[in-house]
Amino acid sequence: MANEQDLMEKIVSLAKRRGFIYPSSEIYGGINGFWDYGPLGVELKRNIKDAWWHDIVRCPATGPDGRPIQMVGLDCSIIMNPKVWEASGHVVNFNDPLVDCKKCKARFRADKVFVACFYDQAAFKALPPGDTGAHLNFVRNPAYRFGVEADDESQVQAAAVAGANSDTRRKLQSGKYEFRAVRVDRRTSSDPLAVCPACDGELTDARKFNMMFKTSIGAMEDSSALAYLRPETAQGIFVNYKNVLDTTRVKTPFGIAQIGKAFRNEINPRNFTFRSREFEQMEIEFFCHPGQADPWYEYWRDARFKWYIDHGLKSSKLRLRNHEKDELAHYARACADIEYEFPFGISELEGVANRTDFDLTQHQKSSGRDMTYFDDETKERFIPYVIEPSGGVDRATLAFLCEAYDEDEAPDEKGAMQKRTVLRFHPRFAPIKVAIFPLVRKDGMPEKAQAIYQACAKHLAAFYDEKGAVGRRYRRQDEAGTPFCVTVDGETRENGTVTIRDRDTMQQVRIPGDSVLAYVRERLHI
Ligand code: GAP
Repeated sequence: MANEQDLMEKIVSLAKRRGFIYPSSEIYGGINGFWDYGPLGVELKRNIKDAWWHDIVRCPATGPDGRPIQMVGLDCSIIMNPKVWEASGHVVNFNDPLVDCKKCKARFRADKVFVACFYDQAAFKALPPGDTGAHLNFVRNPAYRFGVEADDESQVQAAAVAGANSDTRRKLQSGKYEFRAVRVDRRTSSDPLAVCPACDGELTDARKFNMMFKTSIGAMEDSSALAYLRPETAQGIFVNYKNVLDTTRVKTPFGIAQIGKAFRNEINPRNFTFRSREFEQMEIEFFCHPGQADPWYEYWRDARFKWYIDHGLKSSKLRLRNHEKDELAHYARACADIEYEFPFGISELEGVANRTDFDLTQHQKSSGRDMTYFDDETKERFIPYVIEPSGGVDRATLAFLCEAYDEDEAPDEKGAMQKRTVLRFHPRFAPIKVAIFPLVRKDGMPEKAQAIYQACAKHLAAFYDEKGAVGRRYRRQDEAGTPFCVTVDGETRENGTVTIRDRDTMQQVRIPGDSVLAYVRERLHI
C-alpha cells in the first residue's frame, strides 16, 4: 500500500507538473472536490469523450439481435424544472449517511468510515475461554482503536496499515497482531465507539444528507425559486424520451446518449478526481421491450466492460461486480459495477443497471404525460424498460492516466541510463500524437520541422518544440504520453529523411520527412 500511495502521489504530481489536472481556484487555496483540466488534460479527457461518442452514437456496434444498434445523442440543460427531481425520487432519496466529529467538527460519509484496531493475538488468547466481554473491552480501549476512511471493506486494512508505525506493521506481518474493523453505520452495541479518522474524537450517530446542490432562479430567493444542479444526466434523457420518439425515426430497442456535467455535494471528496463535487458523466438510457431487458442488460454490461479493455485497461485490473439483491436500488432489477484497481484500491468506474420502467412511470405519474410506446408491428403498447450504462468521464480519465503511468530507463545526452517517466496511453487517447523537433535552431532545420508540423497539425494533435537538448525534449513528450517524436537533423537536408522515435520502445528509424503524417496515422490506426 505504501508503494501504491507513492504511485498515486507521483501521478497527482505529474498531472499538475505537466498540465493534466490542477486544483480548482488554486491561487485562493483551492476548493475541495473541484478540479481543472490543463492543456494536456483537456485533450486527454476530450479524446475519451470523443471515442465514447464515436463508438456509442456515431458508429454503434451490432446488438444481440444481430442488428446495428439505434442510438441518438442529446444535450440537456443542467438546471431543470425541480419537479423532475421530485418525480425521480432524488429530493427524498438522494442521501448519503453523514457523521460529524464532536471534537474537530470534520464530516464524513458514515459508510466510508471504519473504526478499527490492531490487537495482540497472544493477549487475546490468554483471556479466559469465552471472555469475549474482556476482548471487546480490549478492542474498545481508546488506546487501541482508531478511525479509518476507506471506500469499501476491502481497502480498510491497507489504509490502516499505511497509517501505522513500523512496529505495528512488523507485528502484523509476523502474525502477532490481528486487525479488526467495522463500518461506523453498521456498528452494534458490542462494537467499539466510532472515532474520527482525523483526531480520534467521538463521531455522532449517522444522519441523512441530501447531496443535490441547490440554487435559485431569478431575482427571488424564496422556495418558489428553488432549483437543483442535476446530480445525474440520466433524468434529462427520460424527460426528453417522448421528444426524441416524436422527432426521429427510432423504434425500440433504441438508446439515447448524453455526455455532460453532474454535481453532487459529496460529504467527503477523495482520491484526487475520483470523487468530486463537479464531474462529467457519459450515460446511455437504452429503451427496450420489458421482455428483452435481460439480454440487453447482459449485452451492455459486457460491451462496456470490453470497451475499457480495448482501450488499454488491463483485464487483471478490471472487475465486473454483480450487485447482490440487497444492494440493488429499489428501482433496479439488476446492476453491475465495472471496477478498476486504482492505486488507492478497487473502485467503481461505471455502473450498468436494468432500471426497469421505474423512471418513465414516475414521470408519467408526475407530469401526466403519456410515456407509453406503441409498437406498430405487434400493435402492443408498453412503457419500455431501460438499461443504463452510466460512466464517469473523470473516473475514466483517472483510470487511463493511472494505467498509462510507467517508469523505466532511458539514456541521457551522455548515454548514461536515467529513470524515465512515461505515459503509455492508448493511441486514441494520447493528448499529442506526434511531436516535431529541429535538432538545432539553425541550418534550415526549424523551417523544415515547422513544415512537417504544419502538415501534421491539420489532421491530428501535433506539437512543435525547438527548446533545449533533444533528449530532454523526448523525455518531456514521454511524460505527456506522445507516441512519436520526429527529429529533423543534418541528414534531412541531404536526403529529406527524419528520425521518428517510438515512445514505448524508444527505437528510432529514418523515414522520408514527407511521409511522417502517413506513418503516424498508419501506426496509430487513426
Ligand atoms: N444515472 C446513474 C448514476 O448516476 P451513479 O453510479 O451514481 O449512477 C454513475 O454514477 C457514474 O458517475 C459512476 O460510475 C462514476 O463513474 C461517476 N460518478 C458518480 N459520482 C461521482 C463523483 N462524485 N465524482 C466523480 N465521478 C462520479
